[in-house]
Amino acid sequence: MLPSFSPAATAVATPPPKPIPGGYGAPVLGPLRDRLDYFWFQGPEEFFRRRAAQYRSTVFRANIPPTFPFFVGVNPRVVAIVDTAAFTALFDPELVDKRDCLIGPYNPSDSFTGGTRVGVYLDTEEPEHERTKAFAMDLLRRSSRVWAPEFLEGVDGMLAAIESDLAAGKEGGASFLVPLQKCIFRFLCRAVASADPAAEDLVDRYGLFILDVWLGLQLVPTQKIGAIPQPLEELLLHSFPFPSILVKPGYDLLYRFVEKHGAASVAVGVKDHGMSDKDAINNILFLLGFNAFGGFSVFLPFLILQAGKDAALRAKLRDEFVADRFVGAEGEALLRYVYWSNGPETGEPTKGNKQCAAKDVVVATACMLVAELFRRYDDFECDGTSFTSLQKRQPS
Ligand code: HEM
Repeated sequence: MLPSFSPAATAVATPPPKPIPGGYGAPVLGPLRDRLDYFWFQGPEEFFRRRAAQYRSTVFRANIPPTFPFFVGVNPRVVAIVDTAAFTALFDPELVDKRDCLIGPYNPSDSFTGGTRVGVYLDTEEPEHERTKAFAMDLLRRSSRVWAPEFLEGVDGMLAAIESDLAAGKEGGASFLVPLQKCIFRFLCRAVASADPAAEDLVDRYGLFILDVWLGLQLVPTQKIGAIPQPLEELLLHSFPFPSILVKPGYDLLYRFVEKHGAASVAVGVKDHGMSDKDAINNILFLLGFNAFGGFSVFLPFLILQAGKDAALRAKLRDEFVADRFVGAEGEALLRYVYWSNGPETGEPTKGNKQCAAKDVVVATACMLVAELFRRYDDFECDGTSFTSLQKRQPS
């Protein structure tokens, strides 16, 4: 039982607030040093761990990349909050202004989204947020009838492609990355934008690669990549924002595709939510390309790898996400500490908050993929992002 204190005693016992430890260092040099620590010398996780240990506080000041020399107008100074309890404060729209804040302080130019400031960058105090969030939730609601069958059809095509690659004896197994992205791209176009890529050969073939480049140009300045030596990565990938012009022809192709073939979804934005055609299409493309395609492209490979690991190994991964921890009556009580959706797993996305509109849909989609893998195969093994063996289920 917790001890209780009288109000007077509490008032006396409450210590004055402590100043937030940490700092930003000298102009230019401080942000540069933190950037190199973050991407190079320590890596993103260690960057936060070390500072929390050094300041003996889970709330501290630091600079966050991208910064220097060509990120003009990006303020790298943040207060980092790295413990579960204090973190919840970030989900209170009364306390936090989320304007133009998605991937840290860096806000890629809105020319990546056809000149529209799309919903995810809007704070709940901006009237347009309510409109765009309602539109997103409406599109999801309307897609609910086709979501599962479209996804399962996509998974079917993906596994057929992987099985035939494996049967062809490809060295190193059969990579699932492109088949998975093909599956996600096609199913999302049909479900979210009511547009079938089969109607446009260019979109069907290259649409997913256009989205990969579009996402990459926006995200690379904030991510540790590790594909080239780190000094080169710092010079070439982390020193300046990439211009949207590099992907404009591809974006325009997808724009025209949604305009023509996704007219039913665009009309929902225009007629039911009072948006212009242009804003409806750009919001659909962001929802489809960034939120959904981008989110699933990171999450589903991770899920496949987790499903392929054996239970004993999973139990050893102390610092990793261990799903079993959240199962059962006691486990379920911990769900309020699962924050992947920018809100607690026990919360609900609404027009008045910034929680992921697809919070429940994402979980249901992940469950479908795992169920489908176990329904088809008695066992499967992965090496990196490739399947090395798929043992078809034997009828019992
Ligand atoms: C694995 C997949 C996904 C992940 C990990 C994910 C995660 C997130 C996160 C973290 C945010 C908060 C962003 C922020 O404001 O800082 C968010 C917002 C959002 N997500 Fe998702 N999401 C996923 C899939 C989807 C899908 C499939 C859709 C819809 C088709 C969707 C629609 C949205 C929308 C509309 C917002 C903006 C919410 C707002 O502005 O109030 N997401 N998502």
